[in-house]
Amino acid sequence: MSERLVVIGSQWGDEGKGKITDYFACRADMVVRYQGGNNAGHTVVFDGHKYSLQSIPSGIFNPHTKNVMGNGMVVNPVSVIAELQKLHDQGITDYQLYISNRAAMVMPWHSALDGAYENIKGKSLIGTTKKGIGPCYSDKYSRLGLRMGDLLEPEYFAERLKAALEVKNMELDMLGLPKYDFKEVYDQYMEIAGKIGHMICDTSDLINEALLTDAKILFEGAQGMMLCIDHGTYPFVTSSTPSAASVPVGAGISPKWIDNVVGVAKSYCTRVGEGPFPTELFGDLAHEIRERGHEYGTVTGRPRRIGWFDAVVARYTARLAGIDNWALMLFDVLSGLDKVMICTGYECEGEILQTPPSTISRLSKCKPVLIEMEGWKEDITGAKSFDELPAAAKAYIRKIEEVTGVPVGIVSVGPDRNQTIVVSEKLREF
Ligand code: IMP
Repeated sequence: MSERLVVIGSQWGDEGKGKITDYFACRADMVVRYQGGNNAGHTVVFDGHKYSLQSIPSGIFNPHTKNVMGNGMVVNPVSVIAELQKLHDQGITDYQLYISNRAAMVMPWHSALDGAYENIKGKSLIGTTKKGIGPCYSDKYSRLGLRMGDLLEPEYFAERLKAALEVKNMELDMLGLPKYDFKEVYDQYMEIAGKIGHMICDTSDLINEALLTDAKILFEGAQGMMLCIDHGTYPFVTSSTPSAASVPVGAGISPKWIDNVVGVAKSYCTRVGEGPFPTELFGDLAHEIRERGHEYGTVTGRPRRIGWFDAVVARYTARLAGIDNWALMLFDVLSGLDKVMICTGYECEGEILQTPPSTISRLSKCKPVLIEMEGWKEDITGAKSFDELPAAAKAYIRKIEEVTGVPVGIVSVGPDRNQTIVVSEKLREF
């Protein structure tokens, strides 16, 4: 029987999923991305080298692992080719990559529109990555989108492209943006088809076949639960659902297969882009944590906002995504602080809230209810087991388990693959 593991971000993205997915990807027979696109930025460090991935699954470094870009993704083929080229330049040449024929295709007008919408919004902008993710998902749902499989049927692709351009050129024109010429786009995408067409297939078939064997399958989430289009801090969210709940739809499998979910959480919180952030820290402390954690966006290079660990968010995302274990990341970054805080509730207009409110207007009024814990001074980057951690560090982990109701299955004490303490027996076996 196959083993299925879902790894998701449980905060606002950038929790360190790259490292954890890489950790499991080394052991996985198949790694599947099921939502989002090249708005994700995964940094993976091993053998002294640093690699960054945007849309390609983390199993790409292992020649025996099948990497799948599922139908729930928005795939920018130009960026896939550039990512593959960069990997080639770094010596990664032996890999298996499959792209769903049903995945929505990010077209050049999507990033143009993403930028234009942000400009029009002025001060109330979302702070998107401007990769065209929102406009591509919008076109998918308005049924104006092109799909990766269309590239394999030139006549059908031409038909779909004409239909899309009829509407999109009108929209671009209205916004004062340059229009796209059918022939130019057609030729460019036929050239793209020549380069990656052999990777496009029915990936749902591929995954379902693997489910019936004893394969180890890793479903790799992108972004984080608080950026979920349904349950996140709307409208300051991405356009997909990073939850384990979107694995079945985004990979083309039955929901009955999902049984083990790791929620990746930083030992503190960060977010990029706009929107309320109840545990946000400012000043020297935020600066210190930002520098020690190298908290700058992988995709955009923007400095990340910093906050204390938010158990309100953690409980909420654990409930929504069925998180079985936390992978507690960047734990070493907290070493050296005199005190560390955990937010256990929100105080909002005289009320104590246990879950985040649905509107930004209420969320921006929330003040964190904090508990203070002793910090620890010891360097923990060489710790190999939970027992080797200082007492105050262990107490902090136990408190997170207590206030979230979810056990900590993994503690990360540094960026390298081997700086990973796996506490959970079940996860050790994957
Ligand atoms: P979009 O996904 O580019 O539309 O951006 C929408 C919001 O999600 C913005 O606040 C982005 O900064 C955020 N976002 C998108 N992808 C990521 C990610 O991988 N990590 C962190 N934030 C992200």
